Amino acid sequence: MLQIMYISSAANCAPIDVAQILTVSRRNNERDGVTGFLYADGRRFLQVLEGPAEAVERAFARIGGDTRHRAVVTLSRREIAAREFGDWAMAHRMPGSDSDALLAQIAERLETASPNVRATFEGFAKIRRAA
Ligand SMILES: Cc1cc2nc3c(=O)[nH]c(=O)nc-3n(C[C@H](O)[C@H](O)[C@H](O)COP(=O)(O)O)c2cc1C
Repeated sequence: MLQIMYISSAANCAPIDVAQILTVSRRNNERDGVTGFLYADGRRFLQVLEGPAEAVERAFARIGGDTRHRAVVTLSRREIAAREFGDWAMAHRMPGSDSDALLAQIAERLETASPNVRATFEGFAKIRRAA
């Protein structure tokens, strides 16, 4: 099984319809055996995708080509023995108390990541805490 984590920024100042993204994501992900969560406040995104490698690669390729966001930075791409973030077709998180625990869980997974990737993620987490 493959796990991909990335962060990105909303493409422009117009608010993004996260509900619409989630509806499409849940339909596709359920069909393809992809799970994970989308951490979104309309300005920045942090997403984890998990599932069969081919299905995750396909979903990530579609997402990467989506013009609603930009500056997609892959934080981590690794083989996993089992899903680490639950069975949700695509759970949704917003800034708040539960998201601190979530960010800590991700930080743990990034311990072996390059300093560059860690710095990118830490910058993201800092912005989120201030939000
Ligand atoms: C931040 C973000 C996260 C997304 N996450 C998913 C996802 O988990 N699964 C998915 O199928 N599409 C996701 N999408 C939507 C895809 O980019 C694309 O619009 C969609 O997969 C097209 O589906 P369709 O071909 O069934 O219309 C996401 C889009 C954005 C902007």
